[in-house]
Amino acid sequence: MTDTTQGTETLHDVTVTVNGVRHSASVPARRLLSDFLRHDLELTGTHVGCEHGVCGACTVLVDGSPMRSCLMFAVTAQAHEITTVEGLGTAPDARVAPTGESMNPVQQAFAECHGLQCGFCTPGFLTTVTAYLDENPAPTSEEAREAISGNLCRCTGYQNIVKSVLRAAEIKAERASETAEVQS
Ligand code: FES
Ligand code: FES
Repeated sequence: MTDTTQGTETLHDVTVTVNGVRHSASVPARRLLSDFLRHDLELTGTHVGCEHGVCGACTVLVDGSPMRSCLMFAVTAQAHEITTVEGLGTAPDARVAPTGESMNPVQQAFAECHGLQCGFCTPGFLTTVTAYLDENPAPTSEEAREAISGNLCRCTGYQNIVKSVLRAAEIKAERASETAEVQS
């Protein structure tokens, strides 16, 4: 990492991989990862609500683990792999919303079960639940509630979000068994 100055501010070179693409930039040490993603990389799917680690709207995956991007500096993401909501599906262009099979199981489940209303909280739920199902692919309803307990939603009352988590687990299992059948 090398440093330059811009006016009175020291800029630090940072290289991160976001949704499989390497990005290099020079940023002030105080630049939050959430702001880096939204403003420097124009990946505005990551939402910013409270900006102090409470609401979970800004959650991204860092090396596969959910992290509050408003609590991380961009420079601390140096050499890490970040996945934002834009990178969860398999659409060829990350700025185009995925549909059908190009949605990951969690995205598909939220669409099927009406797990969102205004959608502001949704990117944080999608990233959080995607990582959670990798750890626990068959949660109970109680476990699903626990899994989303760190994310706030002001619209839905959470019932359909819990249904979405359980449905996502089903879709994930269905897709895995279809893949296994194709390969056998
Ligand atoms: S914006 Fe990061 S937790 Fe609320
Ligand atoms: S859908 Fe509006 S805040 Fe969750």
